[in-house]
Amino acid sequence: MNETHKQTLENDIKLITEALQGLYQNSPKALSQLKAAQMHSLLAGGKRIRPVLTLAFCRLFGGNTEAAMPYALAVEMIHTASLIHDDLPSIDNDDLRRGRPTCHVAFGEATALLAADGLFMDAFGVVARNPFVSSEDAREAIRILSDATGSLGLVGGEFIDVDGEGKSLDLEMMQLMHSCKTGALIRAAVMLGALAAGVSVDSAEMKNAVTYADSIGLAFQIVDDVLDVIGTPESLGKNPGKDKSAEKSTYLNHYTIEEAIALADSLTKDAIGAISSYEGSAFLTELALELVSRRN
Ligand code: IPE
Ligand code: IPE
Ligand code: MG
Ligand code: MG
Ligand code: MG
Repeated sequence: MNETHKQTLENDIKLITEALQGLYQNSPKALSQLKAAQMHSLLAGGKRIRPVLTLAFCRLFGGNTEAAMPYALAVEMIHTASLIHDDLPSIDNDDLRRGRPTCHVAFGEATALLAADGLFMDAFGVVARNPFVSSEDAREAIRILSDATGSLGLVGGEFIDVDGEGKSLDLEMMQLMHSCKTGALIRAAVMLGALAAGVSVDSAEMKNAVTYADSIGLAFQIVDDVLDVIGTPESLGKNPGKDKSAEKSTYLNHYTIEEAIALADSLTKDAIGAISSYEGSAFLTELALELVSRRN
């Protein structure tokens, strides 16, 4: 990534993290442990890829990122909530996340469950209260986010994942699982950025944005599956080897590591192709390349 783009990325991550720090400022003392659990997971680092995409797509289409910030915040709240649930003993039973003990290890299962529920619900409030967009756009944003998160999106994908443990899912089913559990929220993040810039849902711009999102979304989960095999706890901030021990179906049941990486590279090319004609797309090109070659 060139210096200017690195600066943009760092600055966006800083703004997003500051906005996350500002959540729950007026929560009463009785809820201090709930807030502590939420902040434990929200402020543990994390790449912030989804909210960065929201801001970047708003910029790509000439919008003011102020209007995209509540959407970016909501997307990261939902993502973090999904990680808290994903790590629970009844789902993936993980004890390390973002370099810290998982939320249920640090705060107990009941608090972790409720901390994530709160983040999920509060995210929709943040979107509904976006002061920079029309009520109609806020409603559209809520629909996009609900579709991405709900039973036909992230939740459905997580269900296919746990239901598939110990089974061998075929490629078509795995693609569906990946596109739901990981792709759907990435797609929503991108769509919300475009929406904040005034791009309508049925426009060619939105279609190209969604092609970019779907391609990097699938590549993102393929790389996550690869890193589960080749990564270390220090580099990942989470424990590797969990997919195999939990008998998960991943792309590596169907492809070698080299083939999976080649597939992720080819999806990344598709993503770049979808936005390359727009002026100012260089940041998103470099971001896609960084994501596919990441080590964490
Ligand atoms: C992890 O997401 C879960 C997947 C969908 C693969 P990230 O790799 O974006 O996790 P953080 O936000 O950087 O911790
Ligand atoms: C999780 O997939 C996707 C989510 C919606 C949280 P994984 O279970 O592979 O994510 P990691 O590897 O634990 O981050
Ligand atoms: Mg999982
Ligand atoms: Mg997991
Ligand atoms: Mg994984």
